[in-house]
Amino acid sequence: KEKVFSGIQPTGTLHLGNYFGAVSKWVKLQNEDREVFYSIVDLHSITLPYDAKKLEKNVLLMTASLIACGINPERSTLFLQSQVPEHTQLSWVLGCLTTMPRLGQLPQFKEKSATLKDVPLGLYLYPILQAADILLYKATKVPVGEDQIQNLQLAHSLARTFNRQYGETFPISEVLVQQDCSSRIRNLRDPTKKMSKSHPDKRGKIDITDTPDDIVEKVKKAVTDCTSQITYDPDNRPGVSTLLTMHSLISGLSPEEICEENKLLDTGRYKLIVAEALVEKFTPIRQEIIKLMDSPEYLSKVLQEGQKKAHLIALETWQEVASKIGTIPNN
Ligand code: TYM
Repeated sequence: KEKVFSGIQPTGTLHLGNYFGAVSKWVKLQNEDREVFYSIVDLHSITLPYDAKKLEKNVLLMTASLIACGINPERSTLFLQSQVPEHTQLSWVLGCLTTMPRLGQLPQFKEKSATLKDVPLGLYLYPILQAADILLYKATKVPVGEDQIQNLQLAHSLARTFNRQYGETFPISEVLVQQDCSSRIRNLRDPTKKMSKSHPDKRGKIDITDTPDDIVEKVKKAVTDCTSQITYDPDNRPGVSTLLTMHSLISGLSPEEICEENKLLDTGRYKLIVAEALVEKFTPIRQEIIKLMDSPEYLSKVLQEGQKKAHLIALETWQEVASKIGTIPNN
């Protein structure tokens, strides 16, 4: 059986980059032919300064958001990373199989550490914990956005090293990154960059919990260029192309079909059409999140059930690893 694993950090709210790049694909991968694991990776989100008081609420908000987007806890194992201790245990073992230069080279580390005076060790170890996430479930498919590719290559190389040293244990997973522009949704205010939680201009990112007014405002303020025509050209016209990409993913029409439909409009008028499509798509999701946030007991129960299922598999892999590396497994 195919095994799907992916994770998301509970930092802030789920935004449209997360939605189009990853979560909408996670939803489609849920069916009986696959075992599916989706983890809220709280231990990853403490690698940079954060507010401990907000983390618990953010975990519940992320749980509610994923369910509202269509993750079905009956079909998918939805769980909190820190509740399965084998993630950190395996990450220690994997850390012993790589080198400091290999980790220091990774683009995400370089980018995040560039602005810090003192770089926390956790930020450096981040991709090892990510590798442990995937390998613990022997995942064969990992659906993510483009920014995760290098981290997953490290996971592959750790799996190969482990297999070589201790015998065949981990499969080399397939990284599912869409070839269309959904794997890198751009920042609306700065379309040379990806939409992200950390960009200083908050108007560049639309959160799944944004109100219709917020959405309209942010789309109106989206940076385009001095051409007023609607054309799809991600390399030369990243601003308007990002709007077209999102519109296309919602409507099922190709970006070219949308350009043809709106060829009489300028970018200013077209923005109103995109905003309306986004509002229509995300209003029911937002309402569902609000409803779910009223039942924190239900959300905690989902995570508890997920923990039980995830832990069974994680423990089994951990015991296999522990005996292969020569430590004595604790039964
Ligand atoms: P995170 O929390 O930053 O993002 C979650 C998912 O959303 C995707 N994504 C995007 N896709 C397209 N355009 C964007 N602008 C955009 N922004 C974010 C990310 O690629 C990701 O798929 N390190 C991971 C979390 C993680 C993980 C894992 C992922 C931990 N362990 C194991 C896969 C497998 C992260 O920070 O994702």
